[in-house]
Amino acid sequence: MRERPIFTIDGPSGAGKTTVSRRLAERASLTRLDTGAMYRACALAARRAGIPWSDGARLGMLCADLPIVFRPGEGSGTRIVLSGEDVSEAIRTPEMSMGASEVSVHVPVREAMVALQRKMGERGGVVLEGRDTGTVVFPDADAKFFLDAAAAVRARRRFLEWGEGGPAFEEVLKEVLLRDIQDSTREHSPLRVADGAIYIDTTTLTVEQVVDEMLRLLPEPARKGIPA
Ligand code: DC
Repeated sequence: MRERPIFTIDGPSGAGKTTVSRRLAERASLTRLDTGAMYRACALAARRAGIPWSDGARLGMLCADLPIVFRPGEGSGTRIVLSGEDVSEAIRTPEMSMGASEVSVHVPVREAMVALQRKMGERGGVVLEGRDTGTVVFPDADAKFFLDAAAAVRARRRFLEWGEGGPAFEEVLKEVLLRDIQDSTREHSPLRVADGAIYIDTTTLTVEQVVDEMLRLLPEPARKGIPA
């Protein structure tokens, strides 16, 4: 039995997983684990090592001992460090978004990442966010959530995050739609609502409203150690 719960949040790009998991982690005193950042780090490491994103076997070897660590950042933020270098910004480019989506289709990559994620979260007191955290990584999580929103709203959120100098809205929308298809139609661990997951449409909700709703809907056994 875990003393502290495991929560999972899955959903498509722009559904609000990052901001919501950050706020939920603060309010429920949990550690946040951004699994998407790990696939992004894999894509970046592959690019630097000259390994094509289509080469599943070599990517699997690369990921088997990918030197990544999460460090606390400013406020509730987390930094991701690859081979001693802070790559938190370098993994957020549109190119690395597509790269993460591409490398994540390969079974050897997924196996290596899932093993790492289980090791990082097994003691509990964590909220994981990603695409398969409730279906594959921790199907026995104490509470599973699936966040979703209208595609145009999700693209708008990503577009606003970029601010001035970022890609045009149409480009962001195209990328979001492309990743939706890629992430939900792939053969292994496609994005889908986990059995027993709580589905929340965030289209018209603020971050605080989403977190309120999650805490309100929390199954009783999942409340262990969560401040009221
Ligand atoms: O959440 P994100 O945008 O940082 O994720 C980047 C990509 O990584 C996403 O398009 C698909 C992949 N991913 C995955 O396959 N499984 C996860 N648990 C998290 C992300």
